[in-house]
Amino acid sequence: MQKSAQLPQSAQSVSSPEKPHALCPWWLGYILASPVRKLLQNPQKLLAGHVRPGMIVLEPGPGMGFFTLELARRVGTSGRVIAVDIQLQMLEGLRRRAARAGVLENIELRQARPESLGLSDLEGAVDFTLAVAMVHEMPSAEWFFRQAAYVSKPGARLLLVEPKGHVSVSHFENELRAAHDVGFIAVESEPVRRSHSALLERAKG
Ligand SMILES: C[S@@+](CC[C@H](N)C(=O)[O-])C[C@H]1O[C@@H](n2cnc3c(N)ncnc32)[C@H](O)[C@@H]1O
Repeated sequence: MQKSAQLPQSAQSVSSPEKPHALCPWWLGYILASPVRKLLQNPQKLLAGHVRPGMIVLEPGPGMGFFTLELARRVGTSGRVIAVDIQLQMLEGLRRRAARAGVLENIELRQARPESLGLSDLEGAVDFTLAVAMVHEMPSAEWFFRQAAYVSKPGARLLLVEPKGHVSVSHFENELRAAHDVGFIAVESEPVRRSHSALLERAKG
């Protein structure tokens, strides 16, 4: 049976069969945002077909914004990217890069707290969520997907990508189960290089 899309009271209130991975050090944000990464994961290609002008997009754990700048270009000034990271250094790096790229006005930066992503004002508001290489760092997949379901419009999609080098098949399957439990269903999608990936859709009914 599906659980309702309510926000968890706290990170301690949800159980997790697998331990979260350690937090990515903030200085790795510079490496993750390097243009060389485009040879493996091209943000334009990955996001084409998912993000349109005017959309409200959530990017939890954006790091220094490898994908955020492209998301911001795509939603345009009529849309908004809500980028939520727990590390201030990541958000500061992202702010600088977005300002240089001229897309800062399309991005809202938020700092998460250990117990919450801080999204209680966004119930049913989000059209698309991009979750790359971050769910394995959450207190639990259930904790994350419950918040993602709460903010997603019915029919909204969530692209989940996890690095194969870091995240085992069983850990990824556990993430998919947690997503399913709160009402996300997997739909067909393109594979992402060197990654486990799934395109999920928030149930409409
Ligand atoms: C491996 S990095 C991936 C960054 C980016 N998505 C990318 O692919 O370049 C994981 C990010 O998730 C963030 N993060 C970890 N735990 C978090 C939490 N509880 N709330 C929000 N962000 C978190 C980290 O600070 C880091 O920026």
